[in-house]
Amino acid sequence: MERKELLYTGKAKKMYATDQENVLLAEYLNQATALNGVKKDAIEGKGRLNNQITGRIFEYLAAKGISSHYIQELSETEQLVKKVDMYALEVVVRNVSAGSFAKRFGMEEGIDLPFPVLEFYYKNDALNDPFINDAHVKALAVASDEEVAEIKKQALEINAALVEMFKKIGIRLIDFKIEFGKTADGKIILADEISPDTCRLWDIETNEHLDKDIYRRDLGDIIPVYVEVLDRLNKMSK
Ligand code: C5P
Repeated sequence: MERKELLYTGKAKKMYATDQENVLLAEYLNQATALNGVKKDAIEGKGRLNNQITGRIFEYLAAKGISSHYIQELSETEQLVKKVDMYALEVVVRNVSAGSFAKRFGMEEGIDLPFPVLEFYYKNDALNDPFINDAHVKALAVASDEEVAEIKKQALEINAALVEMFKKIGIRLIDFKIEFGKTADGKIILADEISPDTCRLWDIETNEHLDKDIYRRDLGDIIPVYVEVLDRLNKMSK
């Protein structure tokens, strides 16, 4: 597999073409950002950890019959993925109040929600990824009604699988963000990454944050907790 031209540089990843049709190479970077890029730091080791954590999680989901763009790990910081056309959507699923949900509704963090709450955000840095509803998604031609229904169905299935998976390793899945894309043959699949950068993960026993809130809220060093998440995932699969 040969790495070809750089296609895109994101906040946490670079995407490259490969010598294989419809296969891209994702390189995970040592960059952490928060507040839509206002807070930005290089954190040694983060790329390697998120590449491996995402790989383990996508492998777990595949074993549960949930497809994603993930093909295989290529190196410590690189993975091969299927080429997809990304929807300009961030899909957030929440099981427990936290973050912007807690803030918006004047709620304490850590309260179980009666059912998984799904939210859409319009992926647009210049607009600060605004919160949007189904009508907005359709009006902005981000996705059709049928595509929205499929994305919601998959997001809730992914949530159920992830809640169960994290429970096995002593972690409460508070909320997370995922993204979807369409393959060359028209299938909607999970894409991007699932890592402590994109999930809120609290230790079941202690409620300790095992995620990027440590960086966002200046609570300390993220590397030891990302190592902890990867270790628990590796132990689970044995
Ligand atoms: O900030 P908020 O409470 O809306 O975040 C909900 C979830 O989505 C969190 O798990 C957060 O890590 C994730 N998220 C993300 N990327 C964003 C916004 C939120 O991964 N741009």
